[in-house]
Amino acid sequence: MQTRYDTILVLDFGGQYCHLIGRRIREHGVYSEIVPHDITPAEIEALNQKFNVKGLILSGGPASVYEPNAPRINPKVLELNLPVLGLCYGHQLIAQIVKGKVSPATCREYGIAEVNIDKAEGMLKGLENKETVWMSHGDTVSALPPEYEVLAHTESCPVAAYRNEQKAIYGLQWHPEVIHTKKGTLMLRNYIFEVCRCEANWKMEDLIEKMVKEIKTEVSEAKAIIGLSGGIDSSVATALAAQALGDKLTAVFVDHGFMREGEPEAIKETFEKFDINFVMAKAQQRFMEKLKGISEPEKKRKVIGEEFIRVFEENARQSGAEYLLQGTIYPDRIESGFRKNSDVIKSHHNVAGLPSKMDFKKIVEPLRDLYKDEVRKVAVMLDLPRELVNRQPFPGPGLAVRIVGEMTEEKVSITKKADAIVRQEIEKSCVAEKLWQYFAVLTDTKATGVKGDSRAYGYVVAVRAMESREAMTANFARIPYPVLEKISTRITNEIPQVTHVVYDITHKPPATIEWE
Ligand code: XMP
Repeated sequence: MQTRYDTILVLDFGGQYCHLIGRRIREHGVYSEIVPHDITPAEIEALNQKFNVKGLILSGGPASVYEPNAPRINPKVLELNLPVLGLCYGHQLIAQIVKGKVSPATCREYGIAEVNIDKAEGMLKGLENKETVWMSHGDTVSALPPEYEVLAHTESCPVAAYRNEQKAIYGLQWHPEVIHTKKGTLMLRNYIFEVCRCEANWKMEDLIEKMVKEIKTEVSEAKAIIGLSGGIDSSVATALAAQALGDKLTAVFVDHGFMREGEPEAIKETFEKFDINFVMAKAQQRFMEKLKGISEPEKKRKVIGEEFIRVFEENARQSGAEYLLQGTIYPDRIESGFRKNSDVIKSHHNVAGLPSKMDFKKIVEPLRDLYKDEVRKVAVMLDLPRELVNRQPFPGPGLAVRIVGEMTEEKVSITKKADAIVRQEIEKSCVAEKLWQYFAVLTDTKATGVKGDSRAYGYVVAVRAMESREAMTANFARIPYPVLEKISTRITNEIPQVTHVVYDITHKPPATIEWE
């Protein structure tokens, strides 16, 4: 394994897409580390002993450069003779530091925008006169000192991209890391290879070795349990942990009662074939008890997160395990708001849903910096069964985050049936393979219908089908009407308590994928 990879450091200003920048760089075979925004030149120098630091990127973030406590950089970082790229907030911050003019927000520009490329040079090489980009900003850069040239503008943003050619400093008001920026990959490739002159000397296999080594080092001679949900993340984490720990590892699958129809049985069958200690903890009743009377979504997530841990603790006591391993991935952490400058979107059960006191020496999360599709690549490299690699993501709290409001046995049963119908009909059509997730949500709205010749008053079920690459952004899928019609007819015919079926046509953002 090569140790001194060419590396681009991403300075984290709390933007939702900050980590995605790192991942886009890795996609080009170049290593990337996310570092705090206030990293000092000395700390960068220290990192340079370990990596070959070839460039910096300042991420976006929710703050305005005008706020008194807005996160800043040490200005000396711009004097290190390293290429620097500022994105969105980073773009505004550099402009402010070099004494350009940044105008405060009058209105927010948000979403897809058309940008005029004035000079297709440097990191904008190969772009057309007009390009589609993804922007989300309030403040705007309107003027810069003479050593900076404007590379692009939009109607409302006179300096949408700039560079200081001599110092290799760039700023983009838009987000090249988000797939809605059509040529974002080309822009980043230009920055990585033309501006920073990196060599692509990093690969995914190195990561597997690094993760196995990390588990071995953390757990050492002790025993560990791993929370296994049967989803791709925890299955990959289990495969890595099995390599690292062998029979010192016990995988615990918690059946909380909110799994999809037939799923607990399928998971048991799959993992009993693996050469690992596998335990299925039946916990349906205790989860339901704990959730009684709770309808607030964040509260539900926290209760579920805590109960998971209590079940794990009981199993750890039985097997003598001191460590808990989890398949937490990066988007779980970002949405749970684990960084200084970012917001909590929702408390993923395995991150912000965890109780403050836990009977474990440590929680080890080998996949914490990966995105789902990177995890899928690791799964293929580890030779995991195809049905696991291709399984659609399913949240740890299961159907509980797809039942709006308080949980009851009846609601769980309705949701399981509706979900099975959605899956069957979508999988029968040829659209399934293009989709990230597809499922049914039981809303807490009731509506009038007519069944047979009688009035019926029943639940409204929402169908959700999303396309995405890594769940940070997602688009609702344009499911053909005949498939939706079949789903609607079957749900209302086969589930007496449901009178209406609606289709959710909201992208993420502004919505999230799950309803709770
Ligand atoms: P949202 O709803 O935040 O979902 O757009 C993004 C992705 O994460 C999954 N998800 C979870 N996964 N524990 C998990 O393991 C959770 O608490 C959780 N909440 C959401 C969701 O299914 C989607 O793929």
